[in-house]
Amino acid sequence: MNRKKTTILDLQAKKTRKEPISMLTAYDYTGAVLVDAAGIDSILIGDSLGMVVMGLESTVPVTMDEMLHHCRAVARGAKYAHLVGDLPFLSYQVSESEAIRNAGLMLKEGNVDSVKLEGGQEVITTVRAIVAAGIPVMGHIGLTPQSVSKLGGYKTQGRTAIAARRLVDDALALEAAGCYAIVLEAVPAPVAEAITERLNIPTIGIGAGPHCDGQVLVYHDILGLYDKVQPRFVKQYLQLQQPITEAFESFRDDVAARKFPTEEHSFAMNSDELELFKKSLKG
Ligand code: KIV
Repeated sequence: MNRKKTTILDLQAKKTRKEPISMLTAYDYTGAVLVDAAGIDSILIGDSLGMVVMGLESTVPVTMDEMLHHCRAVARGAKYAHLVGDLPFLSYQVSESEAIRNAGLMLKEGNVDSVKLEGGQEVITTVRAIVAAGIPVMGHIGLTPQSVSKLGGYKTQGRTAIAARRLVDDALALEAAGCYAIVLEAVPAPVAEAITERLNIPTIGIGAGPHCDGQVLVYHDILGLYDKVQPRFVKQYLQLQQPITEAFESFRDDVAARKFPTEEHSFAMNSDELELFKKSLKG
């Protein structure tokens, strides 16, 4: 297959052709190689790494330096997927100039292709400023985990007519401000459908039903690697925790029983050198 790097134009073309867009998170080189090899359209280096990689209770404490570190690792492993670097909390809320600088660093030092930020109408001027600096921006509305305190928990958003209508207005405003795509997280399927129909740019759903232009899931969730939270919207394709633990237990047992390493895992020595070496120990 003559595979090319996926661009934001390719993602837009998929919406036009009504071909679903696939997106997964990845946080390191090995994960990125695996996701890329599967032909996934886009990789999100999500600030969810705060929870699934760093063991934090939320994404709020994640820093720019941590994001850049993981973005660089993913960029080394993924040749084809469109790479989206998640702007962490407080990297774009303080001022437009800080937002542009941090978004620019994601491209310059993190080697990603675009950035994602959370929020609706309240981030419109920020989105405009980043896009005007030549940086493609993916929006993210609905359940926005960086605002978990304000939302009062990880709850489905847009369940009332007023809240749903506001999500539609947020999405339209983000599109008008220049976003090239929007993540819809944890919103009722009919609301995501209404947004997807009204937008020219692609919607990428996570817990937003089947009508979005694309779907995104978290790497550790689909592989069954993270057991602290298991949202209803996750489809677990593998349950790797148990086989991995079993492999580690086998290693532990082999070491305890001196079954590992065997000759095939050890380095031999030339017999003359070995003799000389033994003599040198006697002297
Ligand atoms: O950080 C992340 O992984 C995300 C996805 C859940 C969309 O924002």
